[in-house]
Amino acid sequence: MSVYIRSIGAYVPERRVSNDELAQTVDTSDEWIQSHTGIQARHICSDQESTSDLAVHAGRQALERAGISPEEIDLVILATASPDFLGFPSTSSIIQDKLELPNSGAFDLVAGCTGFVYGLETGRAMIAAGSARNVLLIGAETLSRITNWEDRNTCVLFGDGAGAVVLSQSPDPERGIIDSILGSEGKGAEHLIRRAGGSREPYTAGKTPEENLYIQMNGRQVYNFAVRVNTEIIKSLLERNEMEYDQLNWIVPHQANIRIIQAAANRLKMPIEKFFTNIHEYANTSAASIPIALNEMYENDKLSAGDYVLLTGFGAGLTYGGNLLRW
Ligand code: ACO
Repeated sequence: MSVYIRSIGAYVPERRVSNDELAQTVDTSDEWIQSHTGIQARHICSDQESTSDLAVHAGRQALERAGISPEEIDLVILATASPDFLGFPSTSSIIQDKLELPNSGAFDLVAGCTGFVYGLETGRAMIAAGSARNVLLIGAETLSRITNWEDRNTCVLFGDGAGAVVLSQSPDPERGIIDSILGSEGKGAEHLIRRAGGSREPYTAGKTPEENLYIQMNGRQVYNFAVRVNTEIIKSLLERNEMEYDQLNWIVPHQANIRIIQAAANRLKMPIEKFFTNIHEYANTSAASIPIALNEMYENDKLSAGDYVLLTGFGAGLTYGGNLLRW
């Protein structure tokens, strides 16, 4: 059975924060941020919004475009690293309630920025196994809530947003998710970590250093990892499926840093135009970045039925992964 992306939706908060605006509060500049990352702006949620709110906007749009009734959704998967609550209740259950999906199970999936790639394969497998007919997969983040806004090494990189897809059995067996790679290199866990608040380092008032409540990152290590795995994922998925580079219509990489994408393109000797990028406007929205990119491509008629599309992700864990799709 082939499982395909039946519909897509996305949502980003209204508030747009330019590099110049950030440079008013932290020692950085538009020139540094653009030249080192490709980022020009990011969208940041309001005080009233949380991850589930962004997810509900994106999920509702995907459901409307699928033309599916709420009763027909059997499962909500939310990929996120910034849930409404730490541990429980799951944010996916809050979304299931807000979207009024009466027959749906719900769980959160934690795989850092690779969450959407992991979620696509999980949803595909659930449908192929007959455990679900239709799955609502959402990648949603409010990384602004766990960002140290005094740390210029990280605060310039991230943004908030959500993207959602409905997965169903494909009416055309030639279209759908063809193959996926899910990987983990847990020995690199320290390189991208939020130390406090879990069972390893419970939050203790007056004792927990404030910076341990925020994203901490060894940028250089993550950069090297990202370039390596991005290249390997693309190569492996093509080799496994006996395809050549030029058969791909699009590569949609996780939007973390334009230089990571350029380095992968150089190593693979592929034209950068094959890689869809919108990092300049949204920065790194973690598990939301790939579906936000796909939604933008969909809305701008960049995707046609039958196109070969390859998604690549990498992030905290350290995790990595990819999906090869026929749109
Ligand atoms: N503004 C100005 N200067 C800065 C800034 C900033 N915002 N940030 C760092 N610098 C300075 C550093 O302090 C350093 O100064 P120094 O030489 O005086 O010490 C200098 O710039 C160079 O720092 P590098 O770390 O060498 O800069 P680099 O070119 O490697 O770029 C970056 C840093 C952008 C973080 C890069 O390493 C990167 O993109 N890494 C991957 C990050 C990533 O993708 N993370 C997300 C993973 S996904 C997830 O799961 C969340």
